Amino acid sequence: MADIESHDYDVIVIGAGGAGLSAVVQSAAAGANTAVICKSLLGKAHTVMAEGGIAAALGNVYPEDNWKVHFRDTMRGGKMLNNWRMAQIHAQEAPERVLELETMGALFDRTRDGRVLQRDFGGHQYARLAHVGDRTGLEMIRTLQQNAVAKGVDVFMEHCVIDLLKDGEHVAGALGYRKETGQFVVWRAKAVVLATGGIGKIYKVTSNSWEYTGDGHSLALRAGADIIDMEFVQLHPTGMIWPPSVRGILVTEGVRGERGVLRNSEGRRFMFDYIPEYFAGDYADSEEEADKWYTQRTETGARRPPELLPRDEVARAIAAEVEAGRGSPHGGVFLDIASRRTPEEIKRALPSMYHQFKELAGVDITKEPMEVGPTCHYVMGGVRTEPDTTESSVPGLFAAGEVAGGMHGANRLGGNSLSDLLVFGHRAGRYAAEHALGLERAPHIDDAEVERLTALAVEPFERDEGENPFELHAELQDTMQDNVGLIRNEEDMKKGLEKIKELQERARRVRVIGNRQYNPGWSEALDLRNLLTAAEMVALSALARRESRGAHTRRDYPETDNEHFGKVNHVLRLKDGEIQLNEEPLPQMPEELRQLFEEKR
Ligand code: FUM
Repeated sequence: MADIESHDYDVIVIGAGGAGLSAVVQSAAAGANTAVICKSLLGKAHTVMAEGGIAAALGNVYPEDNWKVHFRDTMRGGKMLNNWRMAQIHAQEAPERVLELETMGALFDRTRDGRVLQRDFGGHQYARLAHVGDRTGLEMIRTLQQNAVAKGVDVFMEHCVIDLLKDGEHVAGALGYRKETGQFVVWRAKAVVLATGGIGKIYKVTSNSWEYTGDGHSLALRAGADIIDMEFVQLHPTGMIWPPSVRGILVTEGVRGERGVLRNSEGRRFMFDYIPEYFAGDYADSEEEADKWYTQRTETGARRPPELLPRDEVARAIAAEVEAGRGSPHGGVFLDIASRRTPEEIKRALPSMYHQFKELAGVDITKEPMEVGPTCHYVMGGVRTEPDTTESSVPGLFAAGEVAGGMHGANRLGGNSLSDLLVFGHRAGRYAAEHALGLERAPHIDDAEVERLTALAVEPFERDEGENPFELHAELQDTMQDNVGLIRNEEDMKKGLEKIKELQERARRVRVIGNRQYNPGWSEALDLRNLLTAAEMVALSALARRESRGAHTRRDYPETDNEHFGKVNHVLRLKDGEIQLNEEPLPQMPEELRQLFEEKR
């Protein structure tokens, strides 16, 4: 342990996106000595890719909105696989958290009478997304970061966590390294909050940037936590598809929320052809009705435009149009706002989209349509937590945000991620602090375990020959994209799983040259283990769910099976070094909430 830097905290938060920073602010406010650890520079987080807004039933645009409607929309969007208690807490607390963010300094767009403006998004019955143009996630991070720094918490930027440490069954902290120097660091902590985000980098086309390698999901699994429902990976329907260098970059759902429509190569507004039976009563079946909904829904009783179906439905519809030969020149479809709003309105509501397309694709979205297609954006599966406290099955280990599972069921509604980060990040910080301050003694760090882990981490430098970590990562992305993508079947998934096993084997012989200082090859080699674990969890769970539900679509099992799969979570645990999958019954929703689904929508 001589050359290992070490620190002591009550609470460490791993990840500095919306959930992590919310947790940090609350933990520090509760009086816990708190630190935040992040892979990137502070402020760079996938949260900024939630551009269009924060879903919260504030009722500023439609006073009829309330938490019960939000809860029902969320559960229906998640195809009823959501943890009902998480969805309830989320819908009840989101408005308070948005207003709290405002008091912390976030500058939201306004209604004419000065309240927080709300816009439409897919799957939400009312205009519900509090927003800041199309830069809402960015404003959230800016605000939370300022507050966290003002609380005087310690920030470990550009530090990567290798593994969690335990004292018996209880979490004891984490081992990681400082990227600049390669120095190993041990953080001893009475409570750990995981807020590491998602797993997007297991796919080739993704809105996620380099940090999202499934670290939290894999750290938690190795530490003994339960991970649930990893088969549900969300493809956001609209990512950029051209030029190739920008493929996957997000095009906010806010474009459709601001009345943008999807068209195929024949110019047809094709989403009317893809309204599923499940949502038939909620969505308009003519352009006239759909267009009335944006401005006169309460007077006319108009139903929602089908461009605002939940994301899983829209992504599948786009894929079907492309497969039928009605796609755009580069293999997507057209997203048209130019013919629907004035240039001034577009630039005011969607300034980032305007600049993004102008600068990256040479397209003026006030004059021409955008070419878009599905991109991996979010994983609904993650660490199973106790809904009220966010504690995992490992005592002292908490999880919030994308790394936690259950809240969004089989498919997340757009805008529900930013509210999830605020609601459960807040709770994670509060309960982690309470847990830490209630412990009588600091946990013990096992030096031998730290030595074993650091020795393993430097092994790639000791080989004279071996595999290239970047090549293995690229092979993994191809495999997941081709075999465990939007539309799945048993044969492909088995092939994918076999390839993941082969890559895991080869990853044991990975070789890195140079030294530990700012060595991207070494970082990639260490991330590879997490990427492969995350990919294995997705493939295993997807193979076992023999039905289609939400973001999980099987060509060989196209039906939704409510009798069996609608009643179970897939729970993953590590046993003797192998990932085991069990089916466990969904928590039962109480009758008074169940009633909400009987009421007329
Ligand atoms: O489309 C978007 O702006 C993304 C929002 C989200 O993922 O919640």
